[in-house]
Order: sequence, then structure tokens, then C-alpha cells
Amino acid sequence: MSTFESAAQPYGVPGHASAPPYPTASAPAPWPVTPAGDPQPSPPPAQPQYTQQPAAQSYPQQPAQQPPPAQQPERPPVAAAPARPVEDPLSLPAKPGTDADEDDPSTGPDGSIGPTGRPKRHIPEPAMLHTHGPAKVLAICNQKGGVGKTTSAINLGAALTEFGRRVLLVDFDPQGALSVGLGILPHQLDQTIYNVLIERAADLDDVVMRTTVEDLDLLPSNIDLSAAEVQLVAEVGREHALLRTLRPVIDKYDYILVDCQPSLGLLTVNALAAADGVLIPLECEYFSMRGAALLMDTIQKVQERLNPKLEITGILPTMFDPRTLHSREVMARVVERFGDIVFDTVINRTVRFPETTVAGEPITKWAPRSAGAKAYRALAREVIAR
Ligand SMILES: Nc1ncnc2c1ncn2[C@@H]1O[C@H](COP(=O)(O)OP(=O)(O)O)[C@@H](O)[C@H]1O
Ligand SMILES: [Mg+2]
Repeated sequence: MSTFESAAQPYGVPGHASAPPYPTASAPAPWPVTPAGDPQPSPPPAQPQYTQQPAAQSYPQQPAQQPPPAQQPERPPVAAAPARPVEDPLSLPAKPGTDADEDDPSTGPDGSIGPTGRPKRHIPEPAMLHTHGPAKVLAICNQKGGVGKTTSAINLGAALTEFGRRVLLVDFDPQGALSVGLGILPHQLDQTIYNVLIERAADLDDVVMRTTVEDLDLLPSNIDLSAAEVQLVAEVGREHALLRTLRPVIDKYDYILVDCQPSLGLLTVNALAAADGVLIPLECEYFSMRGAALLMDTIQKVQERLNPKLEITGILPTMFDPRTLHSREVMARVVERFGDIVFDTVINRTVRFPETTVAGEPITKWAPRSAGAKAYRALAREVIAR
């Protein structure tokens, strides 16, 4: 077991060090599987899902989407993550994942009316890949905070690996939430994206980390990155620093997802200048819709001045609550205003997402049959098709 896997174990739970991270047939869970007071106890996972198996093997309904192992070229060498210390004063005990099957409204049959109010478009089955790269770079961008950028980066990335894609997640926010969401404490890292962005001598391969998800790697960040914004201002070609940084690994991955910070500053401009596409998570709430116009304006400027190949990959409605009229009204306006670039997949508001952050895992692994996991798989299919 790598140091990173042990790092991903829930801690603050007595006896965790020798126990497997999650309940298995041979080892009972180190905590009550049905938490007291939980009104709808979830059944324990039907099978152990927390091994380094290719994710698709956990889903018998999608067996053909992983290329056969013999045809997989060598994985790029990446550094292991340092162990997560047991004494993290801010930790919460992670709940065990669940395998309860939930309906996702975005995954109805073609032509049925989805949550966007439009008939669902036909999305072809993603083709199998026998070779990898060059990567499509997608910037996940919205200057508003808390709209689901980081959540979408982690879960879209993990869902893309289930379709046999190799994915690098780039944490481009000094708050390091993407790294935390994958079970890493970024302030304890010696080397982060800051070092490769600013110090030319640092080697990208030394900084990129493997995650507990096969084929999902992470370029972590921490608060050091906030200094980069200031330091880059004085540089020649300051808008292309991220593009220069990513160039050596473009051929190793199929997708590079850049999780942007909530601003339209120089770091975000760097992400847009390096990207082939922008994915915009848009909270189904009135202010978000207003902010989107400003973001579109910035994207257009970057297109004209820095990166003519930049496209809008799509707008992803997030935090949708089908029970509220407000959510439905905002959704109708978003579809009316932005049309076909709005994905058919919609991410509902659910407490599962904050819970996965505590668990330090993507929802596709933590609760693989949840509506949230299904929605991000549906999004992955749409992204591959665009
Ligand atoms: N669909 C969702 N439903 C409920 N909570 C969500 C959802 N998506 C994200 N969250 C939670 O909202 C908070 C902000 O999400 P995050 O992805 O970090 O946004 P951003 O990166 O845009 O700031 C996090 O606590 C996250 O767990
Ligand atoms: Mg974020």
C-alpha cells in the first residue's frame, strides 16, 4: 500500500491504522456502519471498491470501456503523496461510502425531457483508446466561489478515467481545495505547482502525484501559488506560464483539467491561455447568471488576444434543486440565454458532495451508484463527445 493510500484512510477513528480503510467481508468496519441518528441507513458496499483496480471493473454494466491492460503503455512516473498526518486538528471522521442505487434525472433515454427542459441529445458511446495524448486542456472556470468548480474537476476527472482516459488534475487555486478533496494536506507539501511555474529548475514529474484513482494524477497547489500571481506580473510572456509548465506532460494524458481560482486575475488568464476549452460550472441561482456575462467577456478577450483556439466546451448547471421554482426559473433562463452549449447533464444539490470532500475521494469511488456519481459519468460522456 502506498503512502498515499494510507493517507486516504479516515483518521480520528480508533484502530484505523491496522484496519482496512473500509468495511470488507473479512474485516468489520472500525466504526458503526449505520451511524446513530441516520434516518436512512445506507447498506454497506456490496463489494470492496477501494482497491487500485481500474474503476470500470466495479461497474459490470460498463465492462467494455477500459482498454485491455496489455495494450496500456507504461504509466508516467509520478511521485507518491506524503502520508497524511494523524493529527490534523481540522479533520472530521469520514463516513463510509455507500453503494445505494439512486436515479439521476440527467441519465434518461435519448429524447426524453431532461432537467434542462430540453429533449436529451444522443451521446455516442465513448470510443476505447489504445494510445494516449495529446491532452485536451480544459479550464474549469467561474469567478464566483462555491459554484462547484473544484467538485467538478475531481469528479469529472475521476469519471473520465472510467472511460479509459488518463487525466491530470491541476490545482490552480492557492486555497488548494482540489488537493484537499483528494485527501492531501497541501500546506505540508515541499513542492507544488508554484515551484514548476516560477522556478524553471523544478521538474514537473517530481511534483505530480498519483491519487487513489487509477489514471488520475494531481498537480497540487497551496498558498505559495498566491505569490506567483504577483511574481508573474513582471515576467515576459506572463500569460503563458501555465502553458509552458504543462507542455512536457501534454502527451502523457488525454485530459488536463485546470481548477481555477474564483477570480478573473492573471492565474485564471493563464489557465484560459493554456486551454483548448472552458467548462463553466454555473450555480442555478440568480447572481451566478449575472456573473456569467462577465466571464464570457473575459473568455472572448483571451480568445482574441492570447488564444484563438479557445472554445467554450460547455456550461454545467450545478446546485440544481428541482423542488424550488427559483432553480427551475434560473435553469430556463440559462438555457434560453446560452442555448446548446449548456450540457444536458445537470448536477443536483446534494450533501453527498461535501461528504466526499471529507472522505478525500471522488464521488464515483465513494458512492459509485449515487445520483451524483451517475451525473458526473454522464458529463464525462458529453465532454468526450464535444
Ligand atoms: N452539487 C452540489 N450539491 C451540494 N453541495 C455541493 C455541490 N457541489 C459542490 N458542493 C459543495 O459546495 C462547496 C463549494 O464547492 P466547490 O466545488 O469547492 O466550489 P468552487 O470550487 O467553485 O469554489 C463545497 O463544500 C462542495 O462540497
Ligand atoms: Mg474551488
